[in-house]
Amino acid sequence: MVLSLRRIDDLGPVDRRARQVTAGAGATLGALQAHVAGAGLELGVDLAARDSATVGGMVATDAGGLRVVRFGDMRHQVVGVEAVLADGSVLSRLSGLVKDNTGYDLAGLFTGSEGTLAVVTRVRLALVPRFEHRAVALLAFGSFEAALDALAVLRDRLPALDALEILFADGLELVRHHLGVAPPLPGEHAVYLLAECADHRDPTGEMAGALAGLEDLDDAVMATEPGPRAALWRLREAHTEVVATLGVPHKLDVALPASRLAEFEGRVRRAVDDAVPGARCVLFGHVGDGNLHVNVVGAAPDDRRVDRAVLTLVAELGGSISAEHGIGTAKRDLLHLGRSPEEIAAFRAVKSALDPRGILNPHVLLPPT
Ligand code: LAC
Ligand code: ZN
Repeated sequence: MVLSLRRIDDLGPVDRRARQVTAGAGATLGALQAHVAGAGLELGVDLAARDSATVGGMVATDAGGLRVVRFGDMRHQVVGVEAVLADGSVLSRLSGLVKDNTGYDLAGLFTGSEGTLAVVTRVRLALVPRFEHRAVALLAFGSFEAALDALAVLRDRLPALDALEILFADGLELVRHHLGVAPPLPGEHAVYLLAECADHRDPTGEMAGALAGLEDLDDAVMATEPGPRAALWRLREAHTEVVATLGVPHKLDVALPASRLAEFEGRVRRAVDDAVPGARCVLFGHVGDGNLHVNVVGAAPDDRRVDRAVLTLVAELGGSISAEHGIGTAKRDLLHLGRSPEEIAAFRAVKSALDPRGILNPHVLLPPT
């Protein structure tokens, strides 16, 4: 058989009335954003890897990122899909109907399927307004509980809230030394929230008003100009690179119900130390979505005790063992911690119906039988 491989990266006209666009799966996020910017629009999912991440990859992995708190993850942007099934047939539903209650949501089924059900070739995407004004604040609290109370107030009071991230004192110290920068706020604080608002008008006043109404806020710094805003974001974004300087980390990516987040934070640090004495947790993440990145350093890369300890605790607290990074090959033997036998049986039924010979990305997601 002769296979001809072609990268499908075409970008269709921007449909301003529907606020949608059709993108080839091989188009990068960066190319897509540039394509729709002229219409005053953008995709609601943004990632640091925008110049290499492709639309198809983002759909296959249901990419998350920093703006999920406002616009949801990739699943929430996909309004239609064109895909090739394992038998070579092509499904195409790219009309972008907002309302379409005519059976199974195949686009939703393929999103986050990690390439196991079909090869997505084109996607119809909903777009969001491109905001010209941004303000960023770093807020300091004495406890995670205080930060979570503040988070709820900020979500209520700030409709323009675009990102809501968490940092902890130990992670921030590592980052500060790595970057060689001064403390962003004087004094010692246990927990920090990084909040960003984006709007068509300057959100600074509205944000300052909301901060002034927070009861247990220890201290805060705001930035509206691009340079100072980027400096605050560096404190969050450098967490991944600083962890990599400490050895090969175990990277776990979990979600918890909002009511169990603070309990999880205390218990996960102890659970990791019990599993591998001396191993250390660096926590950060998208707290507005209940999503924490748990990076563990000081345990051998192939030592699964850390992964089991963290993910067993997540399951006990009713969380998800993978909030945005997926299952892949690394976590498929732990899928049972996050999914019931009935759910895994349903997954297998869907997989064997759509890919009976198991030719589509066979080694990910489902554990071997
Ligand atoms: C982040 C990646 C690790 O949020 O998901 O930085
Ligand atoms: Zn993340």
